Amino acid sequence: MIRVEHLIKEFTLGSQVVRALDDLNLEIPNGEFVSVAGPSGSGKSTLLMALGGLVRPTAGRVLYDEVDIYAQPTRRQTEFRKNIVGFVFQQFHLVPYLTAWENVALPLMLNGNHSGRHKEIAARHLEQLGLGSRLNHKPFQLSVGQQQRVAMARTLVNDPAIILADEPTGSLDPGLATELVRLLNDLNKNGKTIVLVTHSKEVAAAGSRQLMLEEGKIR
Ligand SMILES: Nc1ncnc2c1ncn2[C@@H]1O[C@H](COP(=O)(O)OP(=O)(O)OP(=O)(O)O)[C@@H](O)[C@H]1O
Ligand SMILES: [Mg+2]
Repeated sequence: MIRVEHLIKEFTLGSQVVRALDDLNLEIPNGEFVSVAGPSGSGKSTLLMALGGLVRPTAGRVLYDEVDIYAQPTRRQTEFRKNIVGFVFQQFHLVPYLTAWENVALPLMLNGNHSGRHKEIAARHLEQLGLGSRLNHKPFQLSVGQQQRVAMARTLVNDPAIILADEPTGSLDPGLATELVRLLNDLNKNGKTIVLVTHSKEVAAAGSRQLMLEEGKIR
C-alpha cells in the first residue's frame, strides 16, 4: 500500500515559490492500476517522483507499507528506489553503445548484483517481451517499438513492485501506444502496482481508477 499524507511540494526559484503539490492525500492499494491526468503544470510528474523517492516533500509524508520513505536513512531510500519502484519515461534513455541485453543488465550491475548471471537474467526478460532474437542488437539497430520493450525490460529487471510511468506513450504512434498499455495491463494482472501519468483519455481509461490533478490537488 502506498499512502500519501498531506503532501506539499514547493519549488523555490529566486523569490518565486511554486506550489507543485498542495496538501495532497492519496491511497493506492498493492496491485491497483491508477491513471493520473490533468493539465500541464498540475503536478503530475512531481507526484510521480515523490512516490518514487526522487523528490523530497516540503511537508507531508509518503508511506510505503506504512514506512515513511523520506524518513529512512539514505541507504534505505536508495534501496527503495532501486528495488521497489521502476520508472518508465517518454524517452527510453537507452545507452547507444550497449547492446539490448547490456542495457537491460545495467541496473543489475549498478545494483552490485555480482551473481555473474547478468546476461541470463537480462535475456530472460527480453525473451518475455518477444526480443529473444535481438539480444546483441544496439538501440539504433532496433525499431522504436523494440527499443521501448528493451527499456521496459530494463525497468522490470529488478522486479519492482510498483511501476511509475510518466507519459510513456507520449512519443509513440497509436499502435505502439496500444501495445504499451496492453503490456502495463499484463504487468498489473501479474500483481504489479501501476501509476500511469498520461494526457490521453484512451490511455487513462486503462486504469482501474482514474485521478485528475489540478493545481497540485486531486480534483
Ligand atoms: N525543479 C523545479 N523547479 C522549479 N519549479 C518546478 C520544478 N519542477 C516542477 N516545477 C513546477 O511545478 C509545477 C508542476 O510541475 P510538473 O512537472 O509536476 O507538472 P506536470 O503536471 O507533470 O506537467 P506536464 O503535463 O507539462 O508534464 C509546474 O508549475 C512547474 O513549473
Ligand atoms: Mg510532467
